[in-house]
Amino acid sequence: MQFTVSALLLGAGAGLVAGHPSSLFHSNSKHAEAAELAKRASCTFTTLSAAVAGKKSCTAIVLNGIAVTAGKTLDMTDLTKGTTVTFEGTTTFGYKEWDGPLVSFSGTDITVKGASGHVIDMNGAAWWDGEGSNGGKTKPKGFYAHSLTDSTITGLNIKNTPIQCYSINGASNLKIVNPVIDNSAGDVTDGGHNTDAFDIGSSTGVYISGANVKNQDDCLAINSGTDISFTGGTCSGGHGLSIGSVGGRDDNTVENVYIANTKVINSDQAVRIKTVSGATGSVKNITYSGISMSNIAKYGIVIEQDYENGDPTGTPTSGVPITDVTLKSITGAVVSDAQPYYLLCASCSDWTTSGIAITGGKTSKSCKGEPSGVKLC
Ligand SMILES: *[C@@H]1O[C@H](CO)[C@@H](O)[C@H](O)[C@H]1NC(C)=O
Repeated sequence: MQFTVSALLLGAGAGLVAGHPSSLFHSNSKHAEAAELAKRASCTFTTLSAAVAGKKSCTAIVLNGIAVTAGKTLDMTDLTKGTTVTFEGTTTFGYKEWDGPLVSFSGTDITVKGASGHVIDMNGAAWWDGEGSNGGKTKPKGFYAHSLTDSTITGLNIKNTPIQCYSINGASNLKIVNPVIDNSAGDVTDGGHNTDAFDIGSSTGVYISGANVKNQDDCLAINSGTDISFTGGTCSGGHGLSIGSVGGRDDNTVENVYIANTKVINSDQAVRIKTVSGATGSVKNITYSGISMSNIAKYGIVIEQDYENGDPTGTPTSGVPITDVTLKSITGAVVSDAQPYYLLCASCSDWTTSGIAITGGKTSKSCKGEPSGVKLC
């Protein structure tokens, strides 16, 4: 038997039933009762096949030390409404060149959490070649949080993602609390690349708090979506807190974003908004507040409307206006050959700035199209 079921008989004192769930379905007359019981069941799975086969019959799932077969997804999609999934022990993944994802969740009213001492170790070093998703080995994506509604992911400890970690898409009212992503082992020559921590698209209501991220690309990248917050985080080693690139996808609207009280250290930039050259869309009602930075290698604050497949063209376009932006209490230092501010706007308006003090670096090479009343550089 590959898994055990223990069902707590709610409302019936301390009754405890243990056995294979199929035994609950032997009697037709008891079928409805048994089905109800199975839904309440708590299941501990120690193999991938048992977890995938049994996920629908349990609403309290424990994934204990699962070694995920190379080329397979730890598939927790389409869970029963109200399910709780707890990671225990070390979750590992075999090596294969494929697109992934390594882990995938979907459902409504889902709670995902980690037991004390657990780690989801994605074995990134097996794939890392310094090329990320631009070439070299085909690398699997990490953690799909797609179509998760009214759900919470709390305290997951993930390390060594081959490329991007969380892909959040089609989510609605999703909270991610105290997530840890440690890709610092990828800080080597030909190591981790494109290891974005959180990529958000086409979602409404995504609230990330207390993130602790060490990686080599965006800590946060919002490509589209509304009502998104990222608060109380620490981002180290990567590309900072990004909106964009926006434009050129199916969904090109980013609205109502609140990014606050976050430290960005040892990163290429701290605050970044980039829209795609020649594309259409909109970036609206964006707040960055209480952002502190140190050892920033390229730009403290960079907002540019000239992005093109990784390369800025140098000429901003106005198809994705950036409006209603608040930049408040953004402080810290960039390295000596970095630029504190870089602004390349063709359509930027209704911004307010206060308490911005970034030291170090050299005079900004570009400060084009500052909205009226704003004097960053
Ligand atoms: C702007 O976004 C914030 C979230 O940062 C939200 O609370 C507020 O309601 C939005 N304002 C408008 C006018 O939608």
